[in-house]
Amino acid sequence: MMFGFGAMIQKLKENPKKIVLTEGEDPRILEAASRLLASSFLTPILLGDEKVVADAAEEAGFNIRGAHIINPLTYENKEEVIKEFYEIRKEKGMTMEKAAKLMEQRNYFGTMLVKMGIADCLLGGATYSTADTVRPALQIIKTKPRNSIVSSCFILVRPSATGENEVLAMADCAINIQPSEDELVEICGETINCARIFGIDPKVAFLSYSTLGSGKGDSVDKMRNAAAKAKEEFPDVPIDGELQFDAAVSPRVARQKAPDSKVAGYANTFIFPDINAGNLGYKIAQRMGNFEAYGPILLGLNAQVNDLSRGCNALEVYSMAIITAALT
Ligand SMILES: CC(C)(COP(=O)(O)OP(=O)(O)OC[C@H]1O[C@@H](n2cnc3c(N)ncnc32)[C@H](O)[C@@H]1OP(=O)(O)O)[C@@H](O)C(=O)NCCC(=O)NCCS
Repeated sequence: MMFGFGAMIQKLKENPKKIVLTEGEDPRILEAASRLLASSFLTPILLGDEKVVADAAEEAGFNIRGAHIINPLTYENKEEVIKEFYEIRKEKGMTMEKAAKLMEQRNYFGTMLVKMGIADCLLGGATYSTADTVRPALQIIKTKPRNSIVSSCFILVRPSATGENEVLAMADCAINIQPSEDELVEICGETINCARIFGIDPKVAFLSYSTLGSGKGDSVDKMRNAAAKAKEEFPDVPIDGELQFDAAVSPRVARQKAPDSKVAGYANTFIFPDINAGNLGYKIAQRMGNFEAYGPILLGLNAQVNDLSRGCNALEVYSMAIITAALT
């Protein structure tokens, strides 16, 4: 199990939480739920028809006794949930009819359970797309008062036989398609905080196809300017950019390309210029570099909602459930 997990489980044992799992009858969700129920630090709330969920669990051979199952269509306080959702969205053109329709969708309904304090956090996306999991959170849970955007990071872990796992943070690989200079600075701050929770002592590289002026272009300027602003904003953290990936991680290349940099050669926290670069970057590390990828972990929301990859397995659901609850 990955670095930092023991501490997260300990934290949850001291303060158990409730997590909504939107895709209640998915076998991967049921397996993770049965595993969570076997310990008592995190109670799953499975969304779906009670009988369908129970039958699916029985068929797949998972014991989910003790799980809360809530059917959005028959929930006893359904009217209250619809009314509260309407109140939150009425200035955006929401009507009671539309609100009732949206509350039949588990992604919206589950997010309202978190908003209303019935659950502490939510994990979805085993079948929903990222956009469909994230959009209700953006609309209902909303961005923290001091943040201007919601963003995300991945934690990448390469297990080692000696126990000295390599742990990296990468952002924003999943939410903001083309972040601006100032948004990159905000993403950097949020990622530093998240990286520290996972035991990383952050050394941040703002990545580009150029190293400290070797290449030219608007996206190079964006990364250089963002790195300069981030250095000012977070003076206690080693930050540099713009850096190419090889200069960021290889001490030999760094000696050639960025000999005066305190980050180059040793970066462990990576800020990508846009979602194309970020999403490709983390998947290359995962698929070809033997890193386990945890995330996207959403950053900057008022409550923790996280998205699973549709290709996820039960162990990833279990791990992400613990991460989601521990960050709550
Ligand atoms: C995140 C995302 C889903 C939002 O898209 P969207 O729903 O079409 O966004 P909209 O512009 O319609 O905005 C919906 C609401 O979210 C808010 N919002 C959108 N992006 C936001 C962000 N990054 N941070 C905070 N709020 C945001 C909008 O302000 C709006 O709020 P409002 O309705 O209260 O005014 C979109 O940016 C996206 O698809 N990102 C890529 C996701 C993806 O495919 N990732 C790759 C796989 S991991």
